[in-house]
Amino acid sequence: MSTPQRLTVFGTGYLGITHAACMASLGFEVLGIDTDAAKVAKLSAGLTPIYEPGLPDLLRAELGTGRLRFTTSYEQAAAFADVHFICTGTPSLAGGGGADLSQVRSCVTTLARLVERPSLIVGKSTVPVGTARDLSGFLAGAGRPAEMAWNPEFLREGTAVKDTLAPDRIVVGVTSPHAEQVLRQVYAEQLSAGTKFFATTLETAELAKVAANAFLATKISFINAMAEMCESAGGDVRELSAILGADPRIGERSLQAGLGFGGGCLPKDIRGFLTRAEEIGVDSVVELLRQVDKINLRRRSRTADLALELAGGDLAGVPVCVLGAAFKPGSDDVRDSPALDVAQILHGLGAQVRVYDPVASASASLVCPELRYPASMDAAASGACVVLLLTEWPQFAALQPADLAGIVSRKNIIDARNALRPEMWQAAGWNYRALGIGAPAESPL
Ligand code: UDX
Repeated sequence: MSTPQRLTVFGTGYLGITHAACMASLGFEVLGIDTDAAKVAKLSAGLTPIYEPGLPDLLRAELGTGRLRFTTSYEQAAAFADVHFICTGTPSLAGGGGADLSQVRSCVTTLARLVERPSLIVGKSTVPVGTARDLSGFLAGAGRPAEMAWNPEFLREGTAVKDTLAPDRIVVGVTSPHAEQVLRQVYAEQLSAGTKFFATTLETAELAKVAANAFLATKISFINAMAEMCESAGGDVRELSAILGADPRIGERSLQAGLGFGGGCLPKDIRGFLTRAEEIGVDSVVELLRQVDKINLRRRSRTADLALELAGGDLAGVPVCVLGAAFKPGSDDVRDSPALDVAQILHGLGAQVRVYDPVASASASLVCPELRYPASMDAAASGACVVLLLTEWPQFAALQPADLAGIVSRKNIIDARNALRPEMWQAAGWNYRALGIGAPAESPL
């Protein structure tokens, strides 16, 4: 196989679109493939279905150069390039934590039947360990001229373009020196900029992704368990987090206590990892991740309990303002969003919930049509008995007590992301509650 100039990217979700547009911007000719003709038509017209800073401009620029195109044709894809990236989704299976691998499998098997020249099929989707080895066995058994590799993706929503063009590390799981060589050529630009490159087994590469996400989730749940401790013992988790984070062995990132993690990756990936660990009998991983998940979900019920308490024990008919629907700021993604989950719990308790999010209200209204989504923060807060800050968008973190004082019916605020300055709100006469700030215990002396 000569130095690759052309690549295909299967799947046009978050990962697929970002990878396709970024690789085109590095000078490759890229063909993106999706079985959904409507999606292909929209992308070909430069319309991005997701909110991601920088991505729409990049997509349109690369379509403009002619280096990036989209199709529904697997035949065209097989003929177009010798390096094929699989970026299709691996959602949770209905009723369980395991991953639905049908899209990845169908993509690899269909493509394998069509390739005529020696080709490298590179999985980027997040899969249970063992998937790549199975697919590799299938390719060998079918006698097709295609080799399997795995190249997990670590991009974060909100910084997906930067994370792809300048990643912290590139991990490739390969079964031959040739496959490693091809991937070194594909990522030559990043490698020349000094990016760390790890060539390893298929299994280690698959584990690299889920282990990284499991570690981040564990770190967040660890600080949230410390928040529970602070609530009971009278500490302040924000200070505790700053103190812990100052130790370079611990580090300050992913140590922000609050409502916990959500999104399309962390919750799904730790449940998928847990299910796989159960299947192969690794109890240590199962027990650890079960606790991580439980701690994470407890923060949501704790937040709803605080709202109930501030409303005097009954939320029936009580107007409540929820600030934030996205799973994190900088995104319109509401998959497994802690904010939306809390809003739904409050709705279930009878509250009149009004949600305001600067970008995610539209996506939230599709999955939770029972909630109300006023067009402005003021409209959402108007007459509210309790205000809950659930996603730390900068405009919410910059809120001043006076911004809401004349609008709400009662001055109750829950800062579930520790984004506000408690003293300021308390001084202005608000009942301020946060997660992880406890009252000092009475001295027994
Ligand atoms: C994550 C991983 O970071 C990324 O490497 C992987 O490829 C995909 O999953 P992402 O889902 O974009 O990326 O979000 P991230 O920024 O990691 O945040 C995940 C969740 O954790 C959010 O809900 C966020 O609010 C929460 N979080 C994050 C905390 O509660 N505290 C923190 O300190 C950090």
